[in-house]
Amino acid sequence: MESGRAAHPSLEGRRILLGITGSIAAYKAAVLCRLLKTAGADVRVVMTPLAKQFITPLTMATLSKNPILVEFFDPENGAWNSHVSLGEWADCLLIAPATANTLAKMRGGVADNLLLTTYLSARCPVVVAPAMDLDMYAHAATQENLRTLADRGVKIVEPAAGELASGLVGKGRMAEPEEITAYLDSLFARREKKKTLQGKRFVVTAGATIEPIDPVRYITNHSSGKMGYAIAEELARRGAEVVLVSGRTSLPAPAGVERRDVLSADEMFDATTAAFDRADGAVMCAAVADYTPAEVSATKLKKGDGDLTLALRRTRDIAASLGACKGNRILVGFALETDHEAANAQAKLSKKNFDFVVLNSLRDAGAGFRGDTNKVTFIDRSGSEELPLMTKHDVAARIVDKIESLAAER
Ligand code: PMT
Repeated sequence: MESGRAAHPSLEGRRILLGITGSIAAYKAAVLCRLLKTAGADVRVVMTPLAKQFITPLTMATLSKNPILVEFFDPENGAWNSHVSLGEWADCLLIAPATANTLAKMRGGVADNLLLTTYLSARCPVVVAPAMDLDMYAHAATQENLRTLADRGVKIVEPAAGELASGLVGKGRMAEPEEITAYLDSLFARREKKKTLQGKRFVVTAGATIEPIDPVRYITNHSSGKMGYAIAEELARRGAEVVLVSGRTSLPAPAGVERRDVLSADEMFDATTAAFDRADGAVMCAAVADYTPAEVSATKLKKGDGDLTLALRRTRDIAASLGACKGNRILVGFALETDHEAANAQAKLSKKNFDFVVLNSLRDAGAGFRGDTNKVTFIDRSGSEELPLMTKHDVAARIVDKIESLAAER
């Protein structure tokens, strides 16, 4: 069997602050701690007072080889356990198990124990592994808390479905320690990424197009640009030269990215096809209007007594045009759907000649426009891979991982 260090190389030397809350799943924290230690991580443990009822500080101190922190002050000698320096020390705060109660307090900014104050002061990535009964997990309050935390950048290792302590069967069982360890390893691996795309050029489209009706009104959509900007940023971080063709957004250009601002679908078509000439690939994330007013009135349309019908004409499909001339270059498309998701995405894959499609559905909570999270499925000619809800930055990293493997094959 592969040793912990070889299996999880990115955990070597990492400082993991393991937070344990009062759940029956706390017993799994012992195995988790041992796996992290075996992988070469330095582990310190903060427990909520209730967590001590489920697993003893002695067990966790023995496994982590560090004293356990529970109270703000050491009752023996009055020494202060500084949540600020704990937060500064950690490369990652991992709360496993995270109860519904702790998640709600994290969302609300409650600071009534050492773990919560540490969370509020932590500047490092925060990962939670929820554990609770299925109805508590499915409850709108818990789901809303998780969405808000994810929007704020907290990473969630989703619970599994199975038999729960209550005897009921459903989703709520904390992810297995092996899965959480692998998640942390890949989190650190992504942060360490080398300049693997040095020398490559990519075009990314992002944001919403604006189709004018008259000097006052226009047709647009809800895209904020966040998803496309995260992809441009990630490509640049890995060394690629990036031209970001951006529709309307309020976001600043990511560091090292050349931004070309456009308004309409026609302008986006011209800027993107021109930039694609010298590129090794493109990621089509913009929400582009499929129809634009057939005529733009030079003066403000006046209100009449009756209804108004606007004639719309089809815009040119940018992705399809790149797909027709892409040759061996990489072309990644998005599909934003509200129904028949997989079938529609498959149709776009072949019609626009994409290498793969990133499908997001407005039926999934936390997916699509505006928010900081997305839930996507990759679809290519060999099958599909469904990813859990994650931040748009994490989705971008997964998309660029896939681009990297395609680039390595060509
Ligand atoms: O910007 P955010 O608020 O972060 O939201 C992200 C997002 C929801 C906009 C993004 O994740 C997304 O789904 N982008 C694609 C939106 C879209 O228009 O999808 P579509 O299914 O209509 O288009 C299919 C593909 O063709 C897309 O890659 C699109 O960019 C491209 N297209 C469409 C029309 C057109 N005229 N030219 C194109 O290139």
